[in-house]
Amino acid sequence: MAKSKSVASTHIALPPDTRKKMADLLNGLLASTLDLHSHAKQAHWNIRGPHFLTLHELFDKLAEQTVEHGDEIAERAGQLGFAVSGTLRQGASASKLNEYDLQIASGEDHVRRLSQSLGEYEKLLLDGIEDAEEAEDPVTQDILTRICGEIDKSMWMIESHIVVVSPEAETLTNNNKKAAASQSAA
Ligand SMILES: [Fe+2]
Repeated sequence: MAKSKSVASTHIALPPDTRKKMADLLNGLLASTLDLHSHAKQAHWNIRGPHFLTLHELFDKLAEQTVEHGDEIAERAGQLGFAVSGTLRQGASASKLNEYDLQIASGEDHVRRLSQSLGEYEKLLLDGIEDAEEAEDPVTQDILTRICGEIDKSMWMIESHIVVVSPEAETLTNNNKKAAASQSAA
């Protein structure tokens, strides 16, 4: 976890230990957010195929969203009195996301790969929400919860470009087919 440096005193009514813990959490999340931004741009720049324009624009919207999220996360660390570690080098060394696949080109491959990055990022957010709740910092918890909701929406927008049938839906379809077959045989 990132080790944050205190840079300013504040009258925010949270104990110093809590503020430090939250700043470390936020700086760690910021690194992964910077990395997620690079994943979205990588997809935006490299996509090829029939749905080029739609996906090219959608991936860029995700990149823009990650800039806003990074800003909120970083500024919360600042509000708590701590320095923000927001350079690309910090992001590259402290991100917890797996590296993006640099070889892929098709829209479907980018959709699948970016969904994976979003899923990894969301897991970090969920862990952060839990940590903020335990630390009794409702403001950080609220910021991360809101970001998590927006990531869910982006995930839906991106994943909906490919049809991945859920196991439940597959069972239902198979049962319907069986029922139709036994009706026509009767
Ligand atoms: Fe662009």
